[in-house]
Amino acid sequence: MQDASTPPSPGETSFPRSEIRVLLLEGISETAADAFRQAGYSRIEQVSRALTGDELHSALEEVHFLGIRSRTQLDQRALESARKLVAIGCYCIGTNQVATAVARRRGVPVFNAPYSNTRSVAELVIAEAIMLLRGVPQKNMACHRGEWFKTAAGSHEARGKTLGVVGYGHIGSQVGVLAEMLGMRVIYHDVVSRLTLGNAESAQSLGDLLGRSDVVTLHVPELPSTRDLMGAAELAQMKDGAVLLNASRGQVVDLVALRGELESGRLAGAAVDVFPEEPKTSGAGFASPLVGLDNVLLTPHIGGSTEEAQAGIGREVTEKLLRYSDDGSTLSAVDFPEVALPPHTGDARLLHVHENRPGIMSAITEVIGRSSANIDAQYLQTLNDVGYVVMDVAAERGAASALMDELRGLEGTLRARVLF
Ligand code: NAI
Repeated sequence: MQDASTPPSPGETSFPRSEIRVLLLEGISETAADAFRQAGYSRIEQVSRALTGDELHSALEEVHFLGIRSRTQLDQRALESARKLVAIGCYCIGTNQVATAVARRRGVPVFNAPYSNTRSVAELVIAEAIMLLRGVPQKNMACHRGEWFKTAAGSHEARGKTLGVVGYGHIGSQVGVLAEMLGMRVIYHDVVSRLTLGNAESAQSLGDLLGRSDVVTLHVPELPSTRDLMGAAELAQMKDGAVLLNASRGQVVDLVALRGELESGRLAGAAVDVFPEEPKTSGAGFASPLVGLDNVLLTPHIGGSTEEAQAGIGREVTEKLLRYSDDGSTLSAVDFPEVALPPHTGDARLLHVHENRPGIMSAITEVIGRSSANIDAQYLQTLNDVGYVVMDVAAERGAASALMDELRGLEGTLRARVLF
């Protein structure tokens, strides 16, 4: 049930935008605040660091829209202190820092930006492929040691070589497009059928791809099925002198086996951006079986870390929050019923988040049916224990507000608001 002591949230009374409070933590890109301002929101507070404990709890008390990155922990207690919260924006990829099931049960959707850094990862991968084909990492290390190894042996152009993309999703397919611009032949392996871009071709199997590729690049998600996807047996299937790139997830490659292949010289090099265990903070110590190998490029999980990606994330997440605030759309929300809506115009739009249990929809329809309001459109979606219904009703402001009050009083209501 909705907590009777909960003060009204903006949508509940269709607040003017100038009264909606936005808190952006952790130095989120200025593009986020700009997008809010352009949409008419003016009460925006920006904090450059993460908040914790009591400081976080008291900061959240009056906030309607909250933006965080990966360091702010929104656990049950934090969410309970955010009594006016309407939605959360994670200005990053992951949402593990948020108790999303608790947020859902409080009727608060969570949004993130899973794809704004796709291009950044793809560019790094292409750059690394060229470096590895030319043997630049080991030549660079030698120069730093005061050694001069000028030779063309083992140094190759990317043009005409075969790139094998494992996981042909957002990033993998972008890498393929960029690689073709360099004149590479692109083959890929995926577990589902994918739209092939450019001249890329689907390999018959992972083994087929490994046996044909001069450069293998991994772009699969972290799943039980992708753990050690590149184990000793798969590494052994790669061509002699090939190179391996992993900017996906750390647990996808058996690093001890990879070290063996690199030390023996059977594989020419590797570039690794992600590790099974990564330090939590910048500046912390780092260890890996690959440390100390001249022919390996190691980077601290920065594949997607560019200013352009951050700016894109700022815009993307704010746009999602604005769509929810202004229209009620929850499209691409994480762990929340996804309802895609046309822009809100004309009618009063009633938004109702409720416990997903038998009878609740008929109770809602009955409330509307008893009134003189006509439902012009209705959208419903459920996810696990929560349902979200949006109704456009032809009703005067007063009548729509009265309807909303009745809906808010229904047993099982988690959150309800009306947009005029
Ligand atoms: P995506 O979900 O668009 O694509 C992943 C693809 O892998 C899908 O097409 C899926 O069907 C496929 N796949 C799943 N299991 C597979 C298997 N066993 N064999 C072959 N294909 C399989 O994901 P996206 O956005 O392209 O990201 C890929 C990876 O990159 C993710 O692990 C993500 O965490 C990581 N990433 C790393 C970054 C970095 O900074 N290094 C930044 C952004 C993402």
